[in-house]
Amino acid sequence: MTGAKLIVGNWKMNGLMADSRERTEKLTAAVAKSTSGSFHMVLCPPATMINAVSWFLKESAIRWGGQDCHDQPPGAFTGDIAPEMLKDLGCDFVILGHSERRQHHKETSALVASKAKRAHATGLVTIICVGELDAERSAGKHESVVAQQLKESIPDTATSDNTVIAYEPVWAIGTGKTASGDDIKQMHAFIRGKVGKMQILYGGSVKGSNAREILHTANVDGVLVGGASLKVDEFMAIAEAS
Ligand code: PGA
Repeated sequence: MTGAKLIVGNWKMNGLMADSRERTEKLTAAVAKSTSGSFHMVLCPPATMINAVSWFLKESAIRWGGQDCHDQPPGAFTGDIAPEMLKDLGCDFVILGHSERRQHHKETSALVASKAKRAHATGLVTIICVGELDAERSAGKHESVVAQQLKESIPDTATSDNTVIAYEPVWAIGTGKTASGDDIKQMHAFIRGKVGKMQILYGGSVKGSNAREILHTANVDGVLVGGASLKVDEFMAIAEAS
């Protein structure tokens, strides 16, 4: 696939008012000045910061999204967030099935598909995450694990316009380890065979120094960035490597 790369920043559970404002303002100025790279940028702050961030980003080309949503319409679900609420804050995107949610909140692929279906009904683009554990790769099961996650996590409402896949090997998230160029190439080609024209992002310890190689690998349409998205210079270096 050709075209502008999708650079998504996942702030995870980070961001208070003061630092979010400073980070977003610096980033907006840097993106406006940038003459290198060909990218679309999306920020996914924690739910508490989406409203503020949407105001900080209003005049910029940067879009924003949520990190999760519920699979039911607004109602009696204490502490949860319906996709309509993300839409209401101007979100275009929602990350679903991140490995941290699969691990800490016991989210299954079936639940991810159900959330994605509702998110599609409200007009959000879903970024559906898949990826194998270290032990699964060592056992040579990485392709079968990812194939199963794709099959069960992508609902029948998904199209290449409303769904982006993020391949994030779990052992590479926040560890400083990245998959080798060959591993990324092989897995992205494998995923391409399953999802057709959907954009496919790579995630897991992406930083300025490895972004160019990753972003210029066949079938890598962008990156999902955690830790490095909290540092403006590092995140810009990633975007400008596109
Ligand atoms: P990381 O996180 O860039 O900090 O490894 C990526 C992610 O979890 O989306």
